[in-house]
Amino acid sequence: MSEAPIPYPFAEPSRLDIDPRYAAIREQGIVRVQLPYGEPSWLITRVADAKIAYDFRRFGRRYGLTRAIPGMHNTEATKIPSLLLNMDPPEHTRIRQLAAGAFTPARIQEMEGWVQAFTDELLDEIEAHGPGADFISMFAHKLPVLVLAGILGIPKDKAFEFKKWIDVSSDSSTSPERKIEARETTLAFVRGLIAERRVKPTDDLLSVLIEARDEGDKLEEEELVSLAMALWHGGFKTTLWQLGTTVYTLMTHPDHWRDLKENPDNMHAALNELWRWIPSFKPGRAFGFWAKEDVIFSDGQVVKQGEHVLIEFGMVNRDPSVWPDPDKIDFHREKPLAHFSFTGGAHSCVGQHMARLQIRLAVETLARRFPNLALAVPAEDVQFDPDSFMRGILKMPLKW
Ligand code: HEM
Repeated sequence: MSEAPIPYPFAEPSRLDIDPRYAAIREQGIVRVQLPYGEPSWLITRVADAKIAYDFRRFGRRYGLTRAIPGMHNTEATKIPSLLLNMDPPEHTRIRQLAAGAFTPARIQEMEGWVQAFTDELLDEIEAHGPGADFISMFAHKLPVLVLAGILGIPKDKAFEFKKWIDVSSDSSTSPERKIEARETTLAFVRGLIAERRVKPTDDLLSVLIEARDEGDKLEEEELVSLAMALWHGGFKTTLWQLGTTVYTLMTHPDHWRDLKENPDNMHAALNELWRWIPSFKPGRAFGFWAKEDVIFSDGQVVKQGEHVLIEFGMVNRDPSVWPDPDKIDFHREKPLAHFSFTGGAHSCVGQHMARLQIRLAVETLARRFPNLALAVPAEDVQFDPDSFMRGILKMPLKW
């Protein structure tokens, strides 16, 4: 391939808009792009190509730990081999299976009662505040913290203190000394929780993970700590931002909000369609893989061994060969096929049932308790976060 890679991302996204250039690119197949940092990559926007790239026998992550990973920034700091995201099968499979055993749909369903209780409690506060209440700070910021703390068995009164230390440890403006202090405080806290449960198991997911066995195999102490932190990092901001953009989408599409309230039995299909339609991850922030061998893609293009592919799953979700009229939200699609918002393949989101539960309960409860819900400001005044890696909202006042 002699052509120079196209500079990518094409532009910073505005709100939930999608750059029309993707449609033209999808027609072409896979295209060579150059992100601000790292080696060139192949951009994937078709379902057929995403399926090829999610085959872990031919694509992996481990290889990238010694390379300049294409991205928005230099990701040296996150090239930690023990991170689940950086592993390849078979070592990935082992930890992944142990974690997945704790996150089965049935186990998540058992949590519905207490997640609903937190949802109601936070919505009580919104109701007490009255119209103008900010959904993001009063709800979206809080529910995932309470739920993750519940999973890890962190007492409710300690949940926000724990979150504060994690925020300090990952804030770029924190001094190196304070970062170390914050990191050690959170790790000591998690180690303490694990030690307590070894002596006295409880019914939270952390206990399930501690007990998890796979043919006699068990998670080592440091693997458990690392997994607990991965769950927090993987599950907090993602859910926060998705809660915001889901409610924003419903408020800015009143016909769909009405449809959802009038057809509660169609809730599953409606939420699935919102997961598909909302382009959650900003361009260039999706996750890629390295080819372990030469691979031919759907347009006949060969990706050579050692080259990188970037799967823009928000754009894959708009592939017209799979979803007719893909830019339209349609809660009644004839074939509501599985979307890629939690990606596909070996690394697909292990916490997705947890995320789905929180968003479903939030939307269902809002529809029941606040049927006249609307934005309290014009849609164009809802502020999006310019720094988040997913499309995220900073402030969204509501009225009812
Ligand atoms: C709206 C919410 C969420 C979204 C959009 C989301 C999205 C994703 C995506 C796209 C991946 C795949 C990354 C890759 O290809 O490597 C992923 C992986 C992961 N997610 Fe989520 N996630 C969400 C919520 C959660 C929650 C609630 C948890 C935990 C409680 C969680 C834990 C994880 C973990 C541990 C992985 C790594 C899996 C692996 O490498 O095998 N996520 N998530």
